[in-house]
Amino acid sequence: MARKRPREHLKVLLRKSQIRRKVRHLARQIEHDFHGEPLHLVCILKGACIFLADLLRELELPVSVDFIAVSSYGKGSLPSGEVRITKDLDHSIEGLNVIIVEDILDTGLTLSYLYRVLQQRKPRTLRIAALLDKPERRLKEVKADYIGFEIPNAFVVGYGLDFGEKYRNLKDICVLDSVEP
Ligand code: PRP
Repeated sequence: MARKRPREHLKVLLRKSQIRRKVRHLARQIEHDFHGEPLHLVCILKGACIFLADLLRELELPVSVDFIAVSSYGKGSLPSGEVRITKDLDHSIEGLNVIIVEDILDTGLTLSYLYRVLQQRKPRTLRIAALLDKPERRLKEVKADYIGFEIPNAFVVGYGLDFGEKYRNLKDICVLDSVEP
């Protein structure tokens, strides 16, 4: 007899109202740090797209955006640490105030690689904004300047984060568990 697949169970970790408040708070911190100077947001596809869209609309500064996509290998128990750019930025960042916008800082492999690559392109300033931080999983040290929430080591989905491309459209951020049928 064919085995039934485990059911997926979602438990809310962060409600949309909490997320909205936090994004506003991060925007105020950024405005305070940049004193009306123009900002260039670099969104890491795809998970950060919703955080980017909300943060962008909160910022009362002249702001431009660009997108970059990476793929990483060995994200299982033995990460190889290899990260590759699959879609590069459309524009030069030389001389700009750049903030890398990321949904989640997990092992740190993606951000430590991208920070190094983007730093070589001579931005005026380079900072990192990550909505979620899972410090327990860190393999590479990364200094994020703006962090929304520190979360436990659980698999989270929603607000841009996916499981096999599902759940990115959830308004809350939820912990995903598999339940045996
Ligand atoms: C996730 C997330 C971050 C990265 C963080 O992306 O969106 O970009 O992993 O992990 P790390 O700190 O361990 O490097 P994913 O590869 O799932 O792609 P996606 O954003 O397109 O869903």
